[in-house]
Amino acid sequence: EGKPLADAFGRRISYLRLSVTDRCDFRCRYCMAEKMQFLPKREILTIEELAALADTFIARGIRKIRLTGGEPLVRRGIEELVRILGGRIGDGLDELTLTTNASQLRRHAAGLAEAGVRRINVSVDSLDPERFGFITRGGDLAVVLDGIAAAREAGLAVKINMVALKDLNETEIEPMLRWCAAEGHDLTLIETMPLGEVEDDRTDRYLPLDGVRRGLESRFTLTPLDYRTGGPARYARVEELDARIGFITPLTNNFCDGCNRVRVTATGQIYMCLGFDDRLDLRKALREGDAGELDRLLDRAMRLKPERHAFKIDRAGAAPAVSRHMSVTG
Ligand code: GTP
Ligand code: 5AD
Ligand code: SF4
Repeated sequence: EGKPLADAFGRRISYLRLSVTDRCDFRCRYCMAEKMQFLPKREILTIEELAALADTFIARGIRKIRLTGGEPLVRRGIEELVRILGGRIGDGLDELTLTTNASQLRRHAAGLAEAGVRRINVSVDSLDPERFGFITRGGDLAVVLDGIAAAREAGLAVKINMVALKDLNETEIEPMLRWCAAEGHDLTLIETMPLGEVEDDRTDRYLPLDGVRRGLESRFTLTPLDYRTGGPARYARVEELDARIGFITPLTNNFCDGCNRVRVTATGQIYMCLGFDDRLDLRKALREGDAGELDRLLDRAMRLKPERHAFKIDRAGAAPAVSRHMSVTG
């Protein structure tokens, strides 16, 4: 066992976000450009390589792995990866989970639960079929809701991720909260981050969550909770609805001092922060089976991890902090 990963600011790194593909069957407006150039398949790590890399991280103290994309459930072989990593739960790993758009969830739900996944995060930015189709550029809301139902039937807890978008889903926040409360899902609201070029102007779409929260507090009693999921969300109980709501506020309330994670892309690049281009290539050492070099690369990565992001969205604009899209970094 190697020594546990910790960065230069004394933060323990125990959470790995592992992207298994940069592809997605949706094209959410804040996430992707309409036409995306996807990574060539030969560049992408195989399922065996992804599993081996995960094991390297587990040996260095990673306790939680979140599989991301793109859309993780469009990756061929994903069931097998989930099965392999599920076998590590209780043996180094505390939690295996994923973030999905739910389009393929109906056929995967039972397998995820069997492998030991307990909860999943699902992106749903609107409950209006037409608006959902617009935001996702072609996503079918009915299929997504059916996927979520399948997850619950399989015993998975579901947290709904909703990126707050001015003039797009602003008026749907309260309906979404009521729907989540009725269905028994947690809800997390997210501030849009300037990652990658998209057609929509992020300045026009940015909705600060401090204002959204005040709006909700004028109608409901929000009691802050100590409950944490390992990610950046801060939660509150909505007393009148007996619901839990989370806020992810990279712009209005920086949470980087509690950062516990790194990200690895589907091609084996480790990114130390969502907001910076610094990365190291793990694939070469992985493919050469060079465990010593992999360990050294992880140590270097820790020294490169920045203290915090510098995302900014203001009247002067919202130039992408980094050129890569969320769908690449995961
Ligand atoms: P849990 O807390 O385990 O439920 O996961 P999570 O909220 O960290 O993961 P999820 O994939 O659902 O991400 C929700 C949103 O949080 C996405 O918009 C992420 O980009 C954002 N997010 C997650 N981790 C970070 C981070 O380290 N920095 C920033 N700025 N945003 C993050
Ligand atoms: N800003 C904030 N959240 C984003 N997501 C994708 N792109 C962005 C962005 N630019 C969200 C998705 C998904 C989660 C993994 O990240 O909606 O829920
Ligand atoms: Fe960590 Fe960077 Fe995310 Fe801040 S923006 S929480 S430093 S990964």
